[in-house]
Amino acid sequence: MKISVLTLFPHMFAGPMGESIIGRAVDNNLLELNLMNIRDYTKNKHKKVDDYPYGGGAGMVMQADPIFNALESIDTKNSRIIYMTPKGKVFNQDLAIEFSKEEHLVFLCGHYEGVDQRVIDHWVTDEVSIGDYVLTGGELPAMVMIDSIARMIPGVLGQKVSYMDESIYSGLLEYPHYTRPSEYRGMLVPEVLLSGNHKKIEQWRMDKSLEITREKRPDLYKKYKKL
Ligand code: ADE
Repeated sequence: MKISVLTLFPHMFAGPMGESIIGRAVDNNLLELNLMNIRDYTKNKHKKVDDYPYGGGAGMVMQADPIFNALESIDTKNSRIIYMTPKGKVFNQDLAIEFSKEEHLVFLCGHYEGVDQRVIDHWVTDEVSIGDYVLTGGELPAMVMIDSIARMIPGVLGQKVSYMDESIYSGLLEYPHYTRPSEYRGMLVPEVLLSGNHKKIEQWRMDKSLEITREKRPDLYKKYKKL
């Protein structure tokens, strides 16, 4: 999969997208990350990318021309063009799975008061929010989405780790995990996990998942019970 990111702050992506699982996905060519600095697509001497809003008001608006130029410089025929905004539909695991099946995703990161509406009207296929709170720009939401989308690409998670077993995907929250030592400062690992009895362990994990979901996310629990 290819992911293009249009941003005024490409350096923000270098650390988070260069480490651990996502960094490895890039190194192994499972994910191609194309960071594009919108400022490189200005045609004015001062590389200006924003201006005051028509009609007045606080803040600056990102101008259409550099963004149009940037988008016209790449192939977007078969691309989803995603604009991160609190006005968008709220991101979730189903949307991560849907996006992970695409060939090319383009993330347009707004900053300041956002981008000229004509960019959205002309180019954007999906407006997405990562939750009901307001951030200073679309870069962090883009990274959150890229992380959750990239891990769904076949081969990105190790063979042994399957997202199908885990929290949310299954409709339940995950059971607790423990590792060595079996006793730490007087606190013990549940006996059943040391038993070697896989059937019993599976049953315990399922019971815990149900219990935790009922307690912490009654909304998910109700949905699961109705399935
Ligand atoms: N830009 C600013 N706040 C945002 C949010 N909550 N989700 C997506 N994009 C944003």
